[in-house]
Amino acid sequence: SEVRGGPVLPDRGLSFALLARDGQARRGRLATAHGIVETPAFMPVGTAATVKAMTPEAVAQTGAQIVLGNTYHLMLRPGADRIRRLGGLRKFMNWQGPVLTDSGGFQVMSLADLRKVTEEGVTFRSHLDGAKHLLSPESAVGIQHDLDSTITMQLDECVAYPAPEAEAERAMELSLRWAARCKAAFRPRAGYGLFGIVQGGVNPTLRHRSAAGLVEIGFDGYALGGLAVGEGLELRNLVLDATVPHLPEDRPRYLMGVGKPVDLVESVARGVDMFDCVLPTRSGRTSQAFTRAGPMNLRNARFADDAEPLDPDCACPACRNYGRAYLHHLVKAKEILGSMLLTWHNLTYYQDLMRDMRQAIQAGRFASFRRAFLDSPAAGRE
Ligand code: GUN
Ligand code: ZN
Repeated sequence: SEVRGGPVLPDRGLSFALLARDGQARRGRLATAHGIVETPAFMPVGTAATVKAMTPEAVAQTGAQIVLGNTYHLMLRPGADRIRRLGGLRKFMNWQGPVLTDSGGFQVMSLADLRKVTEEGVTFRSHLDGAKHLLSPESAVGIQHDLDSTITMQLDECVAYPAPEAEAERAMELSLRWAARCKAAFRPRAGYGLFGIVQGGVNPTLRHRSAAGLVEIGFDGYALGGLAVGEGLELRNLVLDATVPHLPEDRPRYLMGVGKPVDLVESVARGVDMFDCVLPTRSGRTSQAFTRAGPMNLRNARFADDAEPLDPDCACPACRNYGRAYLHHLVKAKEILGSMLLTWHNLTYYQDLMRDMRQAIQAGRFASFRRAFLDSPAAGRE
């Protein structure tokens, strides 16, 4: 049940209504200046002002209500000031719904050269042309203002896994001080929001302190950062269980960079409301499809003569109008359409999964949904 008009916006910040609860799982509705987001929600990644291989019209047709953009990439190319002059990221890329932008801290750590983290911020050289830049809490927020991001993320420092505890603690404390500076630099407006990011490695005590510190500063939503960095399902669940109870019930919780379908189900079961991940889009460009029958690689020769739909229970164009043999041909021939159709399918699969979870929570049958999913080939536990 998607709502038009929907909840009235507060004069500052975002409104988040909890519509149902089932165990720890939550069904919510986030109202923003640019539209409603039904939660649990999955945000397709649109790093460089495009969800790769998809038009924004197609992204909307998959059921996505919000997309993610990246401060780091956009500040380097085409530049935040240019996007501001061109009317903001949403107008620039023709995305009608809300956008959430990551702050750049994480991307600097994975992409930039000659990074240096100081109290002031992070200096780095662009991976594109080697030019030197500083990203501070204030400039990260300023850039996200220029982008006219619906949801701004604080600048944080995410340590690699595994990290010595002292290192995880230092980065967590620094991220907390940056969180306060981001809050001070953020200009509150109706329907726009600022999220804090919990850090602290895989140490439950550090995670607790991080969450408590952020809640004291006060944010429109709370993200869990520093995960999906190789820690594995068990440690991630430990961190979720150590963090979520310390976050306010009435604010959305966002698990950054996660994950596989099974990760989404297991994290919703632990009280997470929002996700982003490159997996459905990146996999779409590397011949990997997520289906109700489990993951499939369309390069596999067993599909060469298989005229069946990719996923017979999927209503996306790739499944309705084409067969596996044709998709196999496209990926073998490295045709662009192969990437487009598989991305379209994967994003539809992810959105269908989120919708199914929302319906299950709403109907009070999330536990049986979760059990059935875990027992199905879609969980990918061969
Ligand atoms: N994306 C995935 N993990 C993280 C994180 O820890 N911080 C930020 N800013 N973005 C992320
Ligand atoms: Zn499909």
